Amino acid sequence: PVLVVDFGAQYAQLIARRVREARVYSELVPHSMPVEDMLAKDPQAIILSGGPASVYEPGAPGIDPKIFEAGVPVLGICYGFQVMAHELGGDVDRAALGEYGKTEATVTDSRGILAGSDDEQSTWMSHGVAVKQAPEGFEVLAHTDGAPVAAMADDKRKLYGVQWHPEVKHSPHGQELIENFLHRVSGLKDNWDPQSIIEDQVAAIREKVGDAQVICGLSGGVDSAVAAALVHKAIGDQLTCVFVDHGLLRKGEVEQVKHDFVEATGIKLIAVDASEDFLTALKGVTEPERKRKIIGEKFIRTFEKAQRQVIEEAGAQGKEVKFLVQGTLYPDVVESGGGDGAANIKSHHNVGGLPEDLKFELIEPLRTLFKDEVRAIGTELGLPDEIVWRQPFPGPGLGIRIIGEITKERLDVLREADAIAREELSKAGLDRDIWQCPVVLLADVHSVGVQGDERTYGSPIVLRPVSSEDAMTADWSRVPYDVLARISTRITNECRQINRVVLDVTSKPPATIEWE
Ligand code: XMP
Repeated sequence: PVLVVDFGAQYAQLIARRVREARVYSELVPHSMPVEDMLAKDPQAIILSGGPASVYEPGAPGIDPKIFEAGVPVLGICYGFQVMAHELGGDVDRAALGEYGKTEATVTDSRGILAGSDDEQSTWMSHGVAVKQAPEGFEVLAHTDGAPVAAMADDKRKLYGVQWHPEVKHSPHGQELIENFLHRVSGLKDNWDPQSIIEDQVAAIREKVGDAQVICGLSGGVDSAVAAALVHKAIGDQLTCVFVDHGLLRKGEVEQVKHDFVEATGIKLIAVDASEDFLTALKGVTEPERKRKIIGEKFIRTFEKAQRQVIEEAGAQGKEVKFLVQGTLYPDVVESGGGDGAANIKSHHNVGGLPEDLKFELIEPLRTLFKDEVRAIGTELGLPDEIVWRQPFPGPGLGIRIIGEITKERLDVLREADAIAREELSKAGLDRDIWQCPVVLLADVHSVGVQGDERTYGSPIVLRPVSSEDAMTADWSRVPYDVLARISTRITNECRQINRVVLDVTSKPPATIEWE
């Protein structure tokens, strides 16, 4: 594998992802792993990630310089680059000029990792520390106003470093740099594609499951559908899918899932109506994290209850369901605080929201993958576009889109507004341009309106269309005004108690995609 050494949560993830986009398998390892253990993985190349620390501060994470002597090509990025320069005797210190965001780099030597580069390159930087002098043996390939050494190479030892972040899309030539490092400099061949991911996972699932019974919590979204299809390929009829109607679903969703999914896959499906149960448990709850924890726990209790039916229908009397399949993706894990050193942004219902006394063992075949990889696997497994290209919808459903207490009446209003927005966006042909469009009810906010010559005192609906690559970052979508106008008119006409429609124009960060 290519090892990506993690010096700080989200950067490393993104690098691992770009390596895979270059069709090479990558694995993340924490910087605290001993270098012997890293080398025992027989890496073909190593990338040191960025991170939040400053190399010269006490306690800043470093790396054993043996990593640079193993004959394995190493690329340091941002903090990783500074660590490399520092460990090998370069001069690393506070920058005369910090650079944050878009920065022009002057390329003085376009070869190796910078092969094909123009003399000027737009890059994305985030540093207040700079490499002022490269270590012995290195040549400087590029500089910026704030970074006297912005890129360096030692071709003999195959050591490379860049100050900017080639992994972010705001560095337009970043992917070229990563591919240059992997293919041109390190000589790596392609080895990562949907087919090989499927083969690896199928083998791993078979080995883990043996002859046990397995259930999969199906949400109607892409992730759980692909996870189910993957597990089904591995163990066939030992798998039963359970689709829980928690009363927080969108209009038409139950029918659609039952129909699309069963039709496409032929996997056994049990649908459970647990809406009373969920809504009772959520009564009076307004705090987002509590909503998520309650929903996460209720899902599990519902699966436990469904167990008997699963066993009976599988003709496996006397056995128990041992495993639960979840479509957890890598970003869910990171944002729930599961990544190495990552903060808890929100507890995704299927990660941070799981009860402690969980009786099932988990199977999460997508846990290291990003959405685009999941979609590619879904297509490879033969799932239809209607499933593979569905927009993401969170497991807690409309429950985290009503700001305030969840009641049946509020759910009905939101369901109607959501259906209108989805219909109009679809009609306008925007389904694939928009990553997802949460529709949010600010249930406790009231504003004055006038409808039919009468004063009204209703609640606003927020439209939150976003574009994104992996939901870790997002921008608000520039939906044409006439489409917004149609949605607004229809919602205020057709949804009782709604007298205002507003558009959320915030990116992530600083906001998140969902409002809770
Ligand atoms: P945020 O709001 O964190 O959302 O920017 C990122 C992506 O994750 C989805 N999301 C969830 N999905 N369970 C899920 O299955 C959850 O608890 C959950 N919370 C957020 C959200 O819709 C977006 O696609």
